[in-house]
Amino acid sequence: MNSDDEEINPVTMLLLNTDNNQLTKNGKTTELAPLPVQDKTYHLTSINSTLTIRQLPSQGLSFQLWPAAETFVKLFDTYKPSNTDPFSVTVTKCANDRKPIRILELGSGTGIVGITAAAILGGEVTVTDLPHVLPNMEYNVELNREVVVSGGGEVRVARLSWGEVGDMEVIGRGYDLVIGSDVVYHDNLYEPLIQTLKFLLLGSGDQGEKEGERVFLMGHLRRWKKESSFFKKVRKMFRVDVVHEDGPSSVSRTGVVVYRFARKDAVFR
Ligand SMILES: C[S@@+](CC[C@H](N)C(=O)[O-])C[C@H]1O[C@@H](n2cnc3c(N)ncnc32)[C@H](O)[C@@H]1O
Repeated sequence: MNSDDEEINPVTMLLLNTDNNQLTKNGKTTELAPLPVQDKTYHLTSINSTLTIRQLPSQGLSFQLWPAAETFVKLFDTYKPSNTDPFSVTVTKCANDRKPIRILELGSGTGIVGITAAAILGGEVTVTDLPHVLPNMEYNVELNREVVVSGGGEVRVARLSWGEVGDMEVIGRGYDLVIGSDVVYHDNLYEPLIQTLKFLLLGSGDQGEKEGERVFLMGHLRRWKKESSFFKKVRKMFRVDVVHEDGPSSVSRTGVVVYRFARKDAVFR
C-alpha cells in the first residue's frame, strides 16, 4: 500500500456491508464466511413495487451490491421530470421528451441500477459487464421482469469489456444517457474505462446517435487517494460536475458522490 492510500480505509468502504457477510464494529471489519446466495429487496416508492436482487458473494465483487448502486436506486426513486435538483434536471434533459429513454449502464454487476432505471423511467436499458458476470445479471433481470414491464421498461443484457474495441462497436453510441455505479475502484481499470467513455461521449458516427450532449452519470464512493489521478485525467477530456452528494455514513466519512461527465462544450443550467 502506498502511503497516500493509508488515509482512506478501503476495507470498511468497499462494500455495502449490510446484512451478514461482514461485521463492522468501531471501524474494524471482520470477514465472515461468504454466503453462497443472498437476496436483497428494494421497495420503490415511486412505482409502489419491490425489486429482488440475487447476490452471490462467494463469487466475488461483481456479484454484490456496492454503495453507489443504492444511491442510484434512491435517486431514481425520487426522480420527477419537474424536480429541480441537478440529478433530475440531467436525466430530464437527456430524455429530451424521447420515449422511451435509452440508457447504457457500464459495469452493472448485479444489474440493480439498470433494472431500477428501466422500471421507474420506463426506459430501454442495456446493462453490461464482463462475460462471467452476465448469467447472474440475466437471472436478476428475469426475476424482476414483471415490475420492469409494468413500468413500460425493458432491460437487455450485453457484454461490454471496457476498452475492447469489438465490444464497443457492437454496443454503439445510440443512447440518451450512460450510467455507472462504483466503476472506479482499481487503478488498472482507469484507462480501459476512460477509453470506453471517450468512445461513448466523444466519438462520432453512429446511426441513432444522440445529438447534442451525451452524458455519463457516475456514482462513486472514494476509497483511495490515487483515484485523484483518474479524475485529473477525465477532467482534461470532459466537463465534470457533481450532481449529487450523500452525507457520510456509519462506515465511511465520505459519502457517495454522483458526477456528470459531458463534452467540454456542453451547457447545463
Ligand atoms: C465495484 S463493482 C460495481 C457493481 C455495480 N455497478 C454496483 O454498483 O453494485 C464494478 C463492476 O465493474 C465490472 N468491471 C470490472 N472491470 C471491468 C471491465 N474491464 N469491463 C467491464 N466491466 C468491468 C465488474 O465486473 C463489476 O461488476
